[in-house]
This record gives sequence, C-alpha cells and structure tokens, in this order.
Amino acid sequence: MYKPGITLLLATLFVGISLFGKSNSPQGSCFSLNASDFQKTVNGKQIGLYFLKNGQLEVAITNYGARIVSLCAPSRTGEMADVVVGFKSIDDYLKAKGTYHGAIIGRVAGRIAGGKFDLNGATFSLPLNSPPNHLHGGVNGFHNQVWDVSAVTDTSIVLTYLSVDGEMGYPGNLNVKATYILNSKNELSMELAATTNKNTPLNLTNHAFFNLAGEGSGTILNHILTIPAQYICPVSAGKIPTGKLMSVKNTPFDFRKPKPIGKDLGLEKTEEQLKFAGGYDHHFVLNKKKCNVMKLAAAVTDPQSGRKMEVFTDEPCIHFFSANFFNGADLDKGNRPIQFRESFALETQRFPLLPDNKSFPSITLNPGETYKAKTVYRFSVVK
Ligand code: GLA
Repeated sequence: MYKPGITLLLATLFVGISLFGKSNSPQGSCFSLNASDFQKTVNGKQIGLYFLKNGQLEVAITNYGARIVSLCAPSRTGEMADVVVGFKSIDDYLKAKGTYHGAIIGRVAGRIAGGKFDLNGATFSLPLNSPPNHLHGGVNGFHNQVWDVSAVTDTSIVLTYLSVDGEMGYPGNLNVKATYILNSKNELSMELAATTNKNTPLNLTNHAFFNLAGEGSGTILNHILTIPAQYICPVSAGKIPTGKLMSVKNTPFDFRKPKPIGKDLGLEKTEEQLKFAGGYDHHFVLNKKKCNVMKLAAAVTDPQSGRKMEVFTDEPCIHFFSANFFNGADLDKGNRPIQFRESFALETQRFPLLPDNKSFPSITLNPGETYKAKTVYRFSVVK
C-alpha cells in the first residue's frame, strides 16, 4: 500500500545524506564523527562533512575552510589512529581559538608586515588580524569561508571558492579550487588551482596539524623529522621574514638528516631564530626558485607506533611549525585540551610576501595564468 508519508521521509533522508555527506563515519573508522554535527548554515551557505576511504586510509573533510578534519592511518601493528588534530563539530570549529586547523589558507599564507604590499605601483593595505601584521589571509581568509562542494565520490572531493575583488583588501575576483584525492597507495593528494581577473599575490597552503601517534597522544617532540632543505627564511623578532636566506648548516634547523623534533628545542633561549619564533615556525627552502617538480619536502616518523608520513610537493618551500602557541584552550575531537607542541604543521607553499614584493621570487598571479600547486601526504609504517 502506498504511504506518502513514508516515501517523503525516505526521500528527505536520501537528499539529506547526499547533500551534506554521509551521516556517520565509515564503519570501522578510527574516528567517530557525525555528519549531523557539521550541518549548519553560515552566511547562507550549507556546511557539511564528507568521508573519503581508500585502502587503509580514511579521511574526513568539511567544506568549512576546505578543512581536513580527520585522517586515519595504520601503525606498524595495523592499529588505526586519527593523526590529524581537529574538532568534533562545526560549532567547535567556529568558536575555537585555533582558527586554522586543517584549513586551506589564503589568499596569502604567512605574515605580511604591517599588512602592506606593493603591486604594480600601488600600495595595498590589508586588515591587521595579527597586529601589527596581517596573517593567513585575514580574519575572513579562506579558512573562515564556506566552500562550495562541486563533486564528491568515495575517494575524492572537489571544493571551490570565489574570493571577490577587495575581499580582505586583496585585488581581483579569484576563483580557487581544492581537490582532495585518496588513492589506493595510502596517499592523500591535494591539488590547488586558481585564476584571477586582476594581478594579485597568492600563496595557498593546507594548515593541518598532525600527531602520528594519534590525536591527543602527547607531545610530538620524539617524532623524527627530515626536511631536505639547505636554507630557511630567517625572521625578525616579530616573526617577519627578513628577506634573506640562512644556511641550516650547524644550526637547530638542519633536518637534512633525520632528527627528533625536540632535540634542539631546548636552545630557544640562546638560538636567535628559535627565540624569535618561540620554536620552529619557519619556511624551509626546497628550491630557490619556483620548481613545479614533485619532490620529497619532509618525512616524519613516530617511533612508538611506526607511522610514517612523507610530504611531497611541487612547491618551493615548506613551512614547519612546532605548534608553539597552544595552551589547552581548545578541546580536540576526543575532548582533550590541545596543548603546547602536541602537534606539528608542514605547510607546503611559495616564498613569503614582503612589503617591497622584491626580495623573494614573486607570488603574483596574473590574469590569464593558472595557479597550480600539488602536495601528496604518503602514509606508511617503519619496522
Ligand atoms: C603559521 C604561523 C604561526 C601560527 C600558525 C597558526 O604556522 O607561522 O606563527 O600563526 O600559523 O597557529
């Protein structure tokens, strides 16, 4: 017998699941997230949570900030753990003190001194959301925007965002696309692309915070890090890049051979660059010019679990941040306070933007050009 009420209910349920992502974490995943905890309308746009699964890896992505919320990876004994530090609901993301967790950062990642930059003879002034500087695209940068979901499958999601002319003080209508693909080789790839109708600086990155022992497992000081970079971009006392390059040789920044993240952090009282930044918070230079060739940018191993993450990119720099600011103000997905150096960020990107826009290779995107950047996070285990 036809029961319109039941049919309508089932139809509503189907539309709900397909529009906002599947209702709950995939069976057996190491995170227990509910898509319903991410369903919210902000600025008239619908936020949702989407689950990708392929092989052993499982990833959760929200279109709020095009963020990686969770990533499940196996240990050497096959135990799955969520290695991304994030929040369990959209409300937690909206109220968090840590505003960048897992997000795509833009238009310009990093600090811009005084919020000013010169471009084609004009001086632009950006909001000073990290006074006296502009940071990560401003308070309404891409991390704080609801992106459009243009395609989603079990293993991939494509998100787009239109940053209109003048948004956060930047020139030009900028169309951005972020594509996450989970392949069968335990790799999560992130491809970023953008076009503009006016010259604009652009330096996109992903700001995921990782702990390979699992979110909430304690500090990452024993994680073994390798970064094959001969130079860093040193900063001033205000964490503004000086425009120079500094050799890592015989300094705490030499990660050309595997080294525990915490090994030299005790030197922050004497080593100027660690003192200025409060730890590691620096661009490591993989190539002095834009290179567009995929190469190893970093490798991190957790000795306890055996989990290993390798980061490959075609970008010229990777910014390593040892999470020097967290103080327990935010609770992670397991309701644990997120504390000092319990995670790390490896933000693949271009060179910093300095006000004179001359010291480093240009990050200006021009009309008619397409900005492209690719990063692959490969997960494996060590014996
Ligand atoms: C970047 C900056 C850090 C900090 C984080 C966000 O890594 O370089 O100083 O602002 O973002 O926590």
